[in-house]
Parts: sequence; C-alpha cells; structure tokens
Amino acid sequence: MTIISAGKGASKYNIHITGKNLPKSVLNSNLGKKNKILIITDSGVPKKHIKKLKELINSKSVHTLVLDNGERSKSFSSFKKIIDKLFELRFDRSDVLIAFGGGVVGDITGFSASTFLRGIKYIQIPTTLLAQVDSSVGGKTAINVPQGKNLVGAFYNPSLVLISTEFLNTLPESEYKSGLGEVIKYAFIGNKKLKNIIEKNPEKIIKRKSSILQTIIEESIKTKSKIVTKDEKESGIRAILNFGHTFGHAIEAKNNYKNITHGAAITLGMIIASKISFFEGHISKYQLDNIINMISSLDLDINHEKYKYSDLKKFMSTDKKISDGKLNLILINEKFEAFKTAKFNYKNISKALS
Ligand SMILES: NC(=O)c1ccc[n+]([C@@H]2O[C@H](COP(=O)([O-])OP(=O)(O)OC[C@H]3O[C@@H](n4cnc5c(N)ncnc54)[C@H](O)[C@@H]3O)[C@@H](O)[C@H]2O)c1
Repeated sequence: MTIISAGKGASKYNIHITGKNLPKSVLNSNLGKKNKILIITDSGVPKKHIKKLKELINSKSVHTLVLDNGERSKSFSSFKKIIDKLFELRFDRSDVLIAFGGGVVGDITGFSASTFLRGIKYIQIPTTLLAQVDSSVGGKTAINVPQGKNLVGAFYNPSLVLISTEFLNTLPESEYKSGLGEVIKYAFIGNKKLKNIIEKNPEKIIKRKSSILQTIIEESIKTKSKIVTKDEKESGIRAILNFGHTFGHAIEAKNNYKNITHGAAITLGMIIASKISFFEGHISKYQLDNIINMISSLDLDINHEKYKYSDLKKFMSTDKKISDGKLNLILINEKFEAFKTAKFNYKNISKALS
C-alpha cells in the first residue's frame, strides 16, 4: 500500500493505493461508526464491487443510489435526485457521501457534497483508471449544462481517496485505454520516471499486471497531486494538466461526446499539441516520433488526421483555456516539460491539423 498526500491545511487528504482489498480500518475511521453513509454509484459498476464495498463498512446506516451510467448522468436532474435523497435520509453535516465509480460519479458526488448544507464530507473510491489517476484527485467537481461540459461546479476536496487496482479487472478495454491516455499525459508533462516505466513495460501495462498498474497509478498521482496542491484553483501551473485538452475537448465536442472516450480524445489532442510543439521549434522530430511511438506501443489510437482545423476551430473558440480573448496552448519543450503560451503561430495549428 502506498499513501500520497494532497491538498493544503484543513483540506489536506490522503490517497491510498493498493493492489488488494481497500483498507477497512482507514475507510471506517473516516466514515465514523454512527454516521449515515450514501454510496453514489452507477449502473455500469459491477454489483460485486458494490457488495464488497458495503461489506467493509461498519456503520449500520449505509444507503446506495445508483445513477444511470454515462456522461448524461452528470446533470441537474441527477444532482436534484442526490439532494432529494439526502433530505429524505435526513443527512446532517456529520454524514458522508462515497463516490464509487468513474469520473462521472466522482464529479457529481463531489459537487453534491460541496453544496448540500454548504458542504459535507465525501470520499472518492474511483473504479476506472481515468478516475484513479485523474478525476478523483484535485477536488474539481462539476455537472454538465446545455451550455457546455463541466460549466457548473466547485473546487472541493474529498476527505480521502481509496484506490484498488482490483477494480480495473472488470473495466472494458475502451475505458481502460481512456485511462492510459491520461497516464501517458503525466509522462509527457514532466514525470520522467513514469516515461521510462512506460517505455520499458508496454506489454505488462496492456495486460493490466497489478504491480505495474500500482506503479503507474502512483507515479501519475504523484505528479497530479504535486501540481494541484501548488495551484488548487487553477490560476497558474495547474493549466499544464490540460496538455492535449484544447484539441481533445474539441474532438469530443465534434463527436457530440459520443463514440469516443475522453482519454482517447485527449490522446489525439496530445499528438496534435506535440506536433505544434515541434513546428514551433520546442521539441525535435526525434522527440515527436518518441511521443507518437510511446502512445502507439500502448495500443492507443494515434490517427487524428480525420479531424481538420476547420472541423475543430469553432469548438476551440469556446474552450475554457481562452483568456483575454486569446487562445492559450499547453505545449512541451525538449526536457519534456509542459508550459502554457499564447505566443504561437496559428498557421502551425492548421499545419498540425491538415
Ligand atoms: N474532476 C476532474 O478533475 C476530472 C478530470 C478528468 C475527467 N473528469 C470527468 O470524468 C468523466 C469521465 O470519467 P470516466 O472515464 O471514469 O467515465 P465514466 O465515469 O463514465 O465511467 C466509464 C464507464 O465505466 C463503467 N465502470 C466504472 N467502473 C467500472 C469497473 N470497475 N468495471 C467495469 N465498468 C466500470 C461506468 O459505469 C461507465 O459506464 C467525465 O465526465 C470527465 O469530465 C473529471
């Protein structure tokens, strides 16, 4: 078991990573024996995982709310459903929510926890690779609105994150690959150890070997927690976590958020951003090829050619990475460090997307 800490001051929390069962005593000491617990999960999370989680909890008052799986559940109506349930169960400020699922469940549970009675405790137990390495850490919570994805939300840290690689055994291939897209991002934006591990072990990663999974999850979280602890409200350095996201989000939007996972879109976005980094003279052709080869060694899709600048432009102009009317890009340099810049030649975007 590895323990990593994130957050500052009163909103500090620990992230426990294991290849086996969740740590029962850590979980229960955070929940309290007498408190009410509401587990929020979705219909895609295998029932055996939910059953196992319930068996670990000592409290006599454990309830479960199952949302429909999929992005559509990150909505006002699901939010209302959760809040109504909390009133029905007469939750007070000492009671606890558990987000048990992927990023969808994590984001809406965190948002509900941040608003109910002006804030109650919540625990993240992520069950997808993407949620384990990304969305469960950092305290960004949100729901989607017709105006766009994640536009209503709050920065609100969980009190604990518990991760077991065992949950990943039941994850569909496309969801696993989606998470790998985010793992590889940490390798490109500064975690050289992770980059080395991925380059040496693509087969083990593809086969989901528990020990390698623990290592890559641990390294991903170390990078994420270091960055989000420095910049909790995303006013500076945290932006580099968005490497590949300007183009990735545009690809997701172009597909109406269907038929492509978040991680797969971000992976294509990272290739586009790396090409721009090369055209701008920040990395060599050798390094660009290294990035593409690494992505391809994990069996991830590298074919972004079907997305042209003319297709993605309108979605990029509504991206949150625009400040003062200027598009900011996250690019990388020859040391594999990401940086934010508004100084680039727009022609290089169309060249990367031609
Ligand atoms: N808050 C953040 O910082 C942050 C960061 C990145 C992404 N996100 C958000 O995360 C969401 C995407 O998360 P996701 O990729 O985890 O998708 P998801 O939550 O939709 O989960 C993907 C699918 O996997 C199923 N599933 C979950 N655990 C499983 C398991 N162990 N075995 C089998 N199936 C399982 C789910 O039911 C779902 O159908 C998006 O809404 C995105 O905006 C948030």
